[in-house]
Amino acid sequence: GVELNPALLPLDWLLGSWESDEPGEGCFTSIKPFRYIETLNFSHVGQPVINFTFNAFHAETKKPLHRECGFIRMQPGALRVAFIIAQNSGLVEIEEGELTAQQLNLQSQALARVSFAREPHVQKISRVIQLRPDGRLEQTVSMATDNQPLMQHLHITYHRSS
Ligand code: HEM
Repeated sequence: GVELNPALLPLDWLLGSWESDEPGEGCFTSIKPFRYIETLNFSHVGQPVINFTFNAFHAETKKPLHRECGFIRMQPGALRVAFIIAQNSGLVEIEEGELTAQQLNLQSQALARVSFAREPHVQKISRVIQLRPDGRLEQTVSMATDNQPLMQHLHITYHRSS
């Protein structure tokens, strides 16, 4: 394939495909706890950009649920990382944060949604994506909505599938 753009070397541990191990756990004070499975793909075409898709499914029925896709860019000469994200729920967002070793700590910088998005609206998102010493990837997502403070919504781990 195409050679990785050197600007992305600090994120090379993300590249490829990942699949959840145990079903992920979803929660929030205002909803019933749920379980889900998810596949992730991170790829590149030689640009200083990673292309990604996250596809989540119902843990039992395998029905497609939440989907996100977008791009990852790094600030030249720095460890600042930006995720540019579109979600099938009608939300678009920019998340930014720092890369430390193999951990990304991201916070939403901008959120926008379709005019008819379901309420409550999310007002803030923070997410940690990290490669664990055992080679698994882990993602934790917290959010604040119109009527709830920042708290965890998702936790899941993945193994490499290619
Ligand atoms: C509910 C946002 C990812 C499954 C919700 C709610 C919001 C939200 C605002 C409504 C909370 C309430 O009623 O108080 C987000 C955001 C995500 C995300 C911003 C990504 C950053 C996911 C993923 C799944 C998921 C990956 C996996 C299947 C659910 C389910 C509910 C829910 C099952 C409860 C039922 C429903 O409202 O549809 N989410 N979500 N979400 N989310 Fe997420």
